[in-house]
Amino acid sequence: SPTVPFRGQHQAGIVTPAQDRLHFATFDVQTTSRAELIELLKTWTVMAERMTAGHEATPDGAIGGEQYAPPTDTGEALDLHASKLTLTIGFGPSLFTRADGTDRFGLAARKPAALVDLPKFTGDALEPARCGGDIAVQACADDPQVAVHAIRNLARAGFGVVSVRWSQLGFGRTSSTSTSQVTPRNLLGFKDGTRNIKAEDRDLVDKFVWVDRGDDQGWMAGGSYLVTRRIRMLIEPWDRTTLHEQERVIGRTKGTGAPMGGREEFDELDLQSAGPSGPLVEADAHVRLASAEELGGIQIMRRGYNFTDGSDGFGHLDAGLFFIAYCRDPITQFVPMQNNLARNDALNEYIKHVGSGVFAVPPGVDAQSYWGSTLF
Ligand code: HEM
Repeated sequence: SPTVPFRGQHQAGIVTPAQDRLHFATFDVQTTSRAELIELLKTWTVMAERMTAGHEATPDGAIGGEQYAPPTDTGEALDLHASKLTLTIGFGPSLFTRADGTDRFGLAARKPAALVDLPKFTGDALEPARCGGDIAVQACADDPQVAVHAIRNLARAGFGVVSVRWSQLGFGRTSSTSTSQVTPRNLLGFKDGTRNIKAEDRDLVDKFVWVDRGDDQGWMAGGSYLVTRRIRMLIEPWDRTTLHEQERVIGRTKGTGAPMGGREEFDELDLQSAGPSGPLVEADAHVRLASAEELGGIQIMRRGYNFTDGSDGFGHLDAGLFFIAYCRDPITQFVPMQNNLARNDALNEYIKHVGSGVFAVPPGVDAQSYWGSTLF
């Protein structure tokens, strides 16, 4: 079964072609000991490398150990393959300084200027229990059980040092991050990821995804910033909306994903021309408001997933898009983009942002180092 290399210049799971499944978790650090935190990051690194290679989290962990001790691997991935598992770690603003100013681990001076809590956007309906976290781990794989096993075993090993703050499962990618992939569909039924940055666009990836040595904090060179938004879709109103309105809201056709006025998915997005009753792509269409053309050239790399977490007790599906984006600087890329969408997007009638997070994703680990070693 295919594996994705764990070590390298950049962490895996960013420009890696987006796998089908997600388990994303954030953790709060319980200990106040810097040494204990570093020790856990070292342990996690060894476990993560093993699991991404298709091994148990620990040698002989599930059944080969002491009869009278709890197994050190939980076992549910024993007969499964690596399934392209990637594990990607990020550090939230609260790891560096808490809201009350406390610097638990002596990291305040190392906090990147780009790592600040996101501002409140128009229409935000954030639930604190789905926001933030000191540490985030993104597990992506083509098998959901493999992704869940990975997060579960990291949480298990972290017992007493960290605790899970919130987590999110995703069951289908809503983006393509490589030209080798076909564009999937989100739960609105539209192709999503057509005009995303693709791994093969090396210049765009360098410009918009990877942090450069001179950007900010040196320890972030080769890293990136991860923004998550749990976006609930108001599925029932959407499902009562006409096809014409749905396409007008997005600015693309539902069948092929072609932009308005175009015939095929990858035809050029024409933001200039007029159609029979106004601009081809309307002023409040999602793709117009999110486009680089409207935003002074800004782009981000999207890597989100569909979710359905049962129903909400009021007869509605709790479904939507768990938005994940990677960018070189959230303040100059994600924030202005989301501001434009939050204020003007026709899609806002059908969605609600209920969760949020921003994390500094350190560079990849080389043969000697561990997750986050450049920070400590
Ligand atoms: C494009 C759906 C939220 C940024 C698109 C497209 C769809 C879509 C169908 C067209 C295909 C494509 O080019 O990928 C959605 C849905 C959302 C959502 C259903 C929420 C539930 C967001 C958010 C952002 C964003 C929160 C960023 C703040 C973009 C960008 C594009 C795009 C940058 C490409 C625009 C272009 O240059 O053509 N989205 N989107 N989207 N979306 Fe979203």
